[in-house]
Amino acid sequence: MTRSVHAVTTLEDRRGEAWWTTAVVYQVYIRSFADGNGDGIGDLTGLRSKLPYLADLGVDAVWINPWYPSPMADAGYDVADFRDIEPSYGTLAEGEAFIAEAHELGIRVILDIVPNHTSSEHRWFEAALRDEPGARDRYIFRPGRGPAGDEPPNDWQSAFGGPAWSRLDTGEWYLHLFAPAQPDLNWEHPEVRAEFEDILRFWFDKGVDGFRIDVAHGLAKDPALPDAGERLPGSQHTDPHPAWDQDAVHEVYRGWRAVANAYADRVFVAEAWVPGNDRLARYLRPDELHTAFQFDFLRAPWRSASIRAVIDDALEQAATVGAPATWVLSNHDVPRTVTRYSRSQPDHLVETDWERARWALEEPNHELGRRRARAAALLQLALPGTAYIYQGEELGLEEVEDLPDEVRQDPTWFQTAGADRGRDGCRVPIPWSNSEAPYGFSPIAAAENTWLPQPGHWAPHTAQAQAGEAASFLTLYQQALALRPQLWTTDEPVEWLDAPHGVLAFVRGGVQCWVNTGTTDIELPAGMQVVLGSVPGITDGVLPTDTSVWLAEPEHDR
Ligand code: GLC
Ligand code: CA
Repeated sequence: MTRSVHAVTTLEDRRGEAWWTTAVVYQVYIRSFADGNGDGIGDLTGLRSKLPYLADLGVDAVWINPWYPSPMADAGYDVADFRDIEPSYGTLAEGEAFIAEAHELGIRVILDIVPNHTSSEHRWFEAALRDEPGARDRYIFRPGRGPAGDEPPNDWQSAFGGPAWSRLDTGEWYLHLFAPAQPDLNWEHPEVRAEFEDILRFWFDKGVDGFRIDVAHGLAKDPALPDAGERLPGSQHTDPHPAWDQDAVHEVYRGWRAVANAYADRVFVAEAWVPGNDRLARYLRPDELHTAFQFDFLRAPWRSASIRAVIDDALEQAATVGAPATWVLSNHDVPRTVTRYSRSQPDHLVETDWERARWALEEPNHELGRRRARAAALLQLALPGTAYIYQGEELGLEEVEDLPDEVRQDPTWFQTAGADRGRDGCRVPIPWSNSEAPYGFSPIAAAENTWLPQPGHWAPHTAQAQAGEAASFLTLYQQALALRPQLWTTDEPVEWLDAPHGVLAFVRGGVQCWVNTGTTDIELPAGMQVVLGSVPGITDGVLPTDTSVWLAEPEHDR
């Protein structure tokens, strides 16, 4: 039996705790969410038109990927002006209207701040190129090595591939841990610090509820800029590195926290890929950031033992600093959840480049991937803390692996000379309605192209096709999001239950969550009532493979 579902939409804190300790946040990749003006690119008009959809879905907040003016060398993560809105997305006034309309619907707004680097077209870098006095000090310029100075200052590699240094015609080198069009800022410079604190205030004053901090583990570098040495492939998230996760970064966030504390109820969420949850917890000390993505969760294979280990470690480390855990199954940088689960599962945490390399080696079974992704959603939403949903995850979209090479835009694709196909496949515009592209994403004609083309077989996955369908992905998310605040507050701990091999089972606040990652159906405990199952029909005390269920004792029913 499924309980009645009613959406809770209010900015009032339902449970007397800070909203961000339990929130479900929906990630809007604005370029691909909804196109209002018919140029094939998502925008604010489109986003505003979909606010009722987000309210019906039942999310507490949205996080919007960078919406600032940008030459789009890295889909907006190359910011030219942090105090305005990209003209192809809309105007600052429209952004303000969006914030107000979201708040009216009970949806909070989190922006994406990109402090590690600017666009090469930012006024600061343009001043540095002109070699205005002091302008280069805001970035990381160094002389080259070798007799002619024509070798990079050190051996650091760009996260997108190739050297992390580029040379100006005049001979100087500058650091870019990402694309050459994304020069790294010098966070030892007081003006850089002051500028970003001011940018935070600019948007807080406009009512923004928080910021996702892009590469929060960047910013501070080992001042000696030493060589990093030989790195094993795929070790970028596990080994210490002089460019990443340096202790000096924490002072920056103490300053930011002080800025946020001058406002009510504002929140930071860190994107910090660090070598372990003990390192992650350092970002979450009480005078630093509020939350940080738990990426081990999205790196975990579909195996109960791996997932349990990740959950235990994440909860234990977050507890040491009194922070909520922040569960994330996918985002705009990693292959979509459905696809990750649609191939044979390794026995280790995965790196995204490793995962993309497997596309050529094994056919995906999307039906299986979808079944597992539904089960994973109920797991994610039963855990204590906050949860992020990446747009399209609620529709069960798969990664588009077969984008033609000529449409690819991710700098990863270019900087690895095609060796890594990059992240475009999870950034394809969302299908809203109709039976052919652009599936209601855009008012353009079917023959015209959205900024990345959509697959021809997405008709069954549109929001319209799924709305009101009992067995659809969308309905599952709506039900789970409506039930979540009724079933749990925040403090109920996870208590593991004995479970057969391949099965995760825990109880939280009287409600049990069972997840079967194994190869055989299992028997569920007797006397419990099904609150919600990841597939319809889990009623007869049996949990099939690749499904999950929430169970309550009958007297727990309200
Ligand atoms: C983060 C973003 C990613 C971007 C990179 C550089 O990892 O999520 O999309 O390319 O930072 O800003
Ligand atoms: Ca548009």
